[in-house]
Amino acid sequence: MQSNIHKYTQGYHNLINNLITTLHTDLQSIIGNQLISLLQQPNLSTKFSSMIFSEDQYKIFNILTNSWGQQELSKHPYFFLTGLAGTGKSFMIQQIVNFLKVKNIRYLLIAPTGVAAQNVGGQTIHSALHIRNTQTYFETLSHYNEQQQIELSQIDAIIIEEVSMVSSILLSFISKLFAKIHKKSVPFGGIQTLLIGDLAQLPPVNGKQVFYAPEWQEFFPLFLTTSHRQHNDKLFYNILQEMRVGILSSQTINLINEKVLSYQNNTSINTTYICGFRHEADSINNLICGFLPIFENISSGSLISVAVDYLNNIECEPKEYDKQFRHHTNLPSELTIREGARVMFLTNKLFNENLCNGSIGVVTKLIDEDNIEVAFPIDSGINQVIVKKMTAYFELNGAPAQRTQFPLQNAFALTVHKTQGLTLPHATISLDEQMFANGQAYVAMSRATSWQNIEIRSFNPNAIKVDNEMLAELNRLQQKFNDFHSLYL
Ligand SMILES: Nc1ncnc2c1ncn2[C@@H]1O[C@H](COP(=O)(O)OP(=O)(O)O)[C@@H](O)[C@H]1O
Ligand SMILES: [Mg+2]
Repeated sequence: MQSNIHKYTQGYHNLINNLITTLHTDLQSIIGNQLISLLQQPNLSTKFSSMIFSEDQYKIFNILTNSWGQQELSKHPYFFLTGLAGTGKSFMIQQIVNFLKVKNIRYLLIAPTGVAAQNVGGQTIHSALHIRNTQTYFETLSHYNEQQQIELSQIDAIIIEEVSMVSSILLSFISKLFAKIHKKSVPFGGIQTLLIGDLAQLPPVNGKQVFYAPEWQEFFPLFLTTSHRQHNDKLFYNILQEMRVGILSSQTINLINEKVLSYQNNTSINTTYICGFRHEADSINNLICGFLPIFENISSGSLISVAVDYLNNIECEPKEYDKQFRHHTNLPSELTIREGARVMFLTNKLFNENLCNGSIGVVTKLIDEDNIEVAFPIDSGINQVIVKKMTAYFELNGAPAQRTQFPLQNAFALTVHKTQGLTLPHATISLDEQMFANGQAYVAMSRATSWQNIEIRSFNPNAIKVDNEMLAELNRLQQKFNDFHSLYL
């Protein structure tokens, strides 16, 4: 995919002003307000920020710097850093990485999704290890590439972020890959490995949860306990804590009911609707896009881009094989494009430009049927990108298949799966049959930064679903950590 990137890198608000002055006045506020609300919180981690560690972070940092290392050095190679959403797990990565750099330890920082990897300055597991999914398992192309083998053989430490989204077989696969490359038949070839994540968040899309991997048992748990994302909102933090384990107090139930009663059913663009089902998200997106103004004089107005699909070299009717195609490509069968529409980017091909699968932006110009201009807020400024259509190639039951579409989806409403790992300034959720899987309600709710910035449209206590096996594992880990804590800390 080719993209022309225009990077704006000065004060955010100036950038947004520069960008929107060229737009029709009605569009200025629609686009400007969305860009401002999508701005990321500045990342506080700097080289010196170990000075502002909270007490729990400080203790854990000390354990890792003293005890995490190769068995030959009388250290323990395997740790699992965990805690609720917002306790600073990802924040600690920067400090751990700085420590490894000072010690000249070559590390690999990887994550299962583009959003998670981008968030901590790492790579996706698939790209770093050159992994391809086969029908039933994975394969790595590194076995056939000497240069890649040499690079991987020089790795001394591995950090895997958002490990709850890694399946048990993928964890084992990575472990075996390093065992083979380092010629040592112990987990991860004996390389010091740190897993980071929260098991109560969404399980992997395919396969069993990570704690079913045999290697998992080697990992010693470390728990963070102080909330930093919701630190100004103790009430919200307590609600999240209860949702995580699926037991709501009467106080929480009352608070949720109050939210439902005060919900105003007026469709707003200043929130993100988080849905369980894709069709629900689609209809909200269509509804909101329908409200956006169209300006015939300044653009070609509105466009519904329907994917062009081929199966066995024959063009299909639009949406004919949509269900089957969904298993092979994330390009949508239909995309509504209008200036002012919020969209999510769907590939990792512009990873070096700080855009990844999951980046959210706003359409600023519809150039023609094959080119759209989109502004994405990123860490260092705003990337205004001309997005072109791309083609995904795959096999469907042995026959060649392909889909051509913009690598974008509408993003006023998103499914819970698409929001894992994102922080949203404002979210609107339904706690009802929309939440059909374990962890969904907790993940949807914990995307917001405060109780004030969340709207709840409906509530049924059955929507709070938690996996009992996961809870049992969480208890085992907590017990193990508590025993250790009372002995040594
Ligand atoms: N010690 C700290 N001092 C200041 N801010 C912190 C600290 N620890 C975490 N944060 C901030 O709190 C927010 C949540 O932290 P994050 O690492 O994303 O949590 P988690 O990965 O556990 O969900 C981030 O904005 C992060 O920068
Ligand atoms: Mg995190």
